Amino acid sequence: MKILLLTSSIPASPFIEAIGALAPDVDLVEYRPDLGAAELAAVDVVLGWRMPEGLAPRLPRLRWVCSVAAGIDKLLTPDLPPHVVVSRTIDTEQAAGIGQFVVTMALRHARSLERYGAQQQERIWRRAPTLLATQRVAVLGTGAMGGAIVEWLNRTGFRASGWNRRSTATLHETLGHGDIVVCALPLTEATDNILDARAFAAMPRGGYLVNVARGQHVVDADLIAAIRSGHLSGAALDVQRREPMPADDPLWAVPGITITPHIAAQSSTDVIARQFVDALRGLQRGEPIANSIDRGRGY
Ligand code: OXD
Repeated sequence: MKILLLTSSIPASPFIEAIGALAPDVDLVEYRPDLGAAELAAVDVVLGWRMPEGLAPRLPRLRWVCSVAAGIDKLLTPDLPPHVVVSRTIDTEQAAGIGQFVVTMALRHARSLERYGAQQQERIWRRAPTLLATQRVAVLGTGAMGGAIVEWLNRTGFRASGWNRRSTATLHETLGHGDIVVCALPLTEATDNILDARAFAAMPRGGYLVNVARGQHVVDADLIAAIRSGHLSGAALDVQRREPMPADDPLWAVPGITITPHIAAQSSTDVIARQFVDALRGLQRGEPIANSIDRGRGY
């Protein structure tokens, strides 16, 4: 079996090392734009993060695409043939890491730590004591990440619950009860730009957004307007529409917005390598691929 690694912008060498140690018989090739047609024509499986545009039709033997990330949206290009199975890696440590990150951001907001950071810049010693953080948190998405986020928040004292499209409450009803809203949704046609002016208007005044999913979930101009008008108090954005986020992006300069460079939690190379090799062995035995997604739904 020939495996093409499309992990960029994550370096491929740790994956090559970890998979090579578990399965020395597997033929691993790192993608380069100058790979020849013959080499591409022999590829059976892709392990990666992002499918370059126009590459899928050049892989006629391709049967399986496995994501090295929790999200698979960057691999689901429109030219990926429908028979190709797409799967993801499920790393419980990564989910816990996301839970910790969200708790950090929610507490930082709820305990006014941003205010004290600003006061320190001005050498101002002024107290504005806060009570125990018990805010209501609406977590959009109830998958591995959303579930872990709800658990971590509730353990900390917040009142968190998850929402998905099968919930009885509508999205906007749910947002109405979100002092803090956390986006942990998959990126699909149905969720692209889901957090727009109407969604922000549905949130309570002073509400706060944490996005650990994809930048494309948020209409940036609407978020900026909701914060500048004082309706929302701010946002923590670990993901952005353009990554790396360019220096001229307006989000950088909005007071109340915290930007982090997609670091909420990484999945472990060893976990990915182990799950990938197990699934590969299963495929060789003719078994269905574990953790495959529903291509129609997009997650
Ligand atoms: C992701 C990840 O999907 O970092 O964003 O795993």
